Amino acid sequence: MTEPQDPIHIRVEDVHKSYGENHVLRGVDLLIHRGKTNVVIGGSGAGKTVLLRQLIALERPDRGRILLDGQDVVSLGEVQLNRIRRRFGMVFQASALFDSMTVFENVAFPLREHTRLPGREIRKRVAAKLEVLGLGGTENRMPGEMSGGMRKRAAVARALILEPEILIYDEPTAGLDPIASRNVDRLINDTAEHFRGTSVVISHDMNTTFGVGHYVALLHEGRIRASGRPAEIAASTDPVVRRFLAASGVTPVITHAG
Ligand SMILES: Nc1ncnc2c1ncn2[C@@H]1O[C@H](COP(=O)(O)OP(=O)(O)OP(=O)(O)O)[C@@H](O)[C@H]1O
Ligand SMILES: [Mg+2]
Repeated sequence: MTEPQDPIHIRVEDVHKSYGENHVLRGVDLLIHRGKTNVVIGGSGAGKTVLLRQLIALERPDRGRILLDGQDVVSLGEVQLNRIRRRFGMVFQASALFDSMTVFENVAFPLREHTRLPGREIRKRVAAKLEVLGLGGTENRMPGEMSGGMRKRAAVARALILEPEILIYDEPTAGLDPIASRNVDRLINDTAEHFRGTSVVISHDMNTTFGVGHYVALLHEGRIRASGRPAEIAASTDPVVRRFLAASGVTPVITHAG
């Protein structure tokens, strides 16, 4: 593991999580760097989504600490946890949007849930966010009438609408073709630049990993097996990392070098 060169936003220490007999997270140690794109990779069923649920305080780990700006969130009460959850924006793995709602209603949803802003202010904020994401004027469209890439943009608009500190994407390219996937990578990079917050990307797409990551960590058998700069992961001699990279068939093309 390398010495961190950027400030730490979230520090995960020895986090364990079991469901019955299934010991999914077995002592995860992970650093999330402020203002950077942090990618967590791992095979299907490795526990990436479970880790993410602990990160955003949707679930409580059985053991370990999660320090957000140095504050341990694991021991907080429900009211404080709700405040913590609002600091995260989520782009979910599957069905990112409510299919029965217009784009406007989808993006406005968190504002309606969490604020008492008047209707005109909500309209203004939604329009501004859609504009930033290249979706200006799509308010009245239904998700089913848009391409996968546009839906992903709308999901990012919704995740950003409460101005979170940390934006999390769970498998953002799952189910998309290679061209749409590279567009999503660009979207993640453009958004990171514009939003200037911290991004966490959960993925098993190696193109995405090396295309967006400033830092990469591999989750394997319930622990972080390797972590560091993309170039360090690409050059790793750890057989587990090598096997993971080889299986993807991707030659790493690194966007954000050291
Ligand atoms: N709420 C739950 N109750 C019981 N078991 C769960 C729960 N959530 C996850 N698991 C189990 O935890 C393990 C890890 O699941 P997880 O969804 O985190 O995998 P993942 O790494 O995100 O995989 P994928 O790449 O397929 O999304 C799996 O064995 C899963 O069955
Ligand atoms: Mg998952």
